[in-house]
Amino acid sequence: MIKTAVFPVAGLGSRFLPATKAIPKEMLVVVDKPLIQYAVEEARAAGIEKFIFITSQGKEAIEDHFDSHSSLELTLQARGKLEDLEKIRSIRIPEGQALFIRQHEPLGLGHAVWCARHYIQEESFALLLADDLVQAKVPCLQQMVQAYSPEDGNMVAVIDVNKEEVNRYGILDVKSKSGSKVRAKSVVEKPSPQNAPSTTAIIGRYILHTSIFEPLGFKKQGAGGEIQLTDGLQTMVNANFPLTGFRFDGQRYDCGTKVGWLQANLALAAADQELRPYLESVMMNLNRPLSA
Ligand code: G1P
Repeated sequence: MIKTAVFPVAGLGSRFLPATKAIPKEMLVVVDKPLIQYAVEEARAAGIEKFIFITSQGKEAIEDHFDSHSSLELTLQARGKLEDLEKIRSIRIPEGQALFIRQHEPLGLGHAVWCARHYIQEESFALLLADDLVQAKVPCLQQMVQAYSPEDGNMVAVIDVNKEEVNRYGILDVKSKSGSKVRAKSVVEKPSPQNAPSTTAIIGRYILHTSIFEPLGFKKQGAGGEIQLTDGLQTMVNANFPLTGFRFDGQRYDCGTKVGWLQANLALAAADQELRPYLESVMMNLNRPLSA
């Protein structure tokens, strides 16, 4: 039973400066919702009931976003804007179901996850990186939860990437395949294209066993001098704990980059009945020369 999800949201977002100078990168909007809301909605659809955010200074807007906003709600009510009222009410995470934990220093994803160690009661929990937005008929985490069985051990969502991109991901060395699952014999964080064991890359959706907190607690520095989640997964593989890659149905956009963020906006707008006709005319006009 996977009832808790962890959302690491402490990162600086320097790739999006100056946009992220005063707002968290997880609050960047794709079409009409901030990235973090897509991730929380995906978790909800998968049956998650407890939401743990690993934050840092300057991330207060995330907490506010999932809180109630009484003056705005009263105003919308008084003006009869009931649809908008429902929209903002439905975002709220019910009281007692959200937890915000500060990561004091940016020591890496593995360290961010470790910060949640005292607050997970179940054997396994979900981890979602809001930078990765997945467009899918059945939300990605829900697909994973449905497919997951305890023999899978730790499960990571995977995609195939181009060889020259492997140095941006955790990469699996695949031992065997069965349907949408692959079993890994090892995993390495951000290898160079020459040293990568494959092009099977982890994206930001995980189902982790709580025993991951033990290797993460060693605080060993890995790639980029950071405490890497991937190294914790590898330590568990070394101790014969399985690592399973899951090929989900859907399209993932890397909203941690400008190009990926732009693609996500276009793809989601194209899938929206109201926006699609406008998008088509915008795209046609793009070919016109800019006026002086
Ligand atoms: C993190 C993980 C990496 C994974 C990636 C997915 O890297 O460390 O293993 O492939 O997320 O987005 P980051 O993008 O935080 O550098």
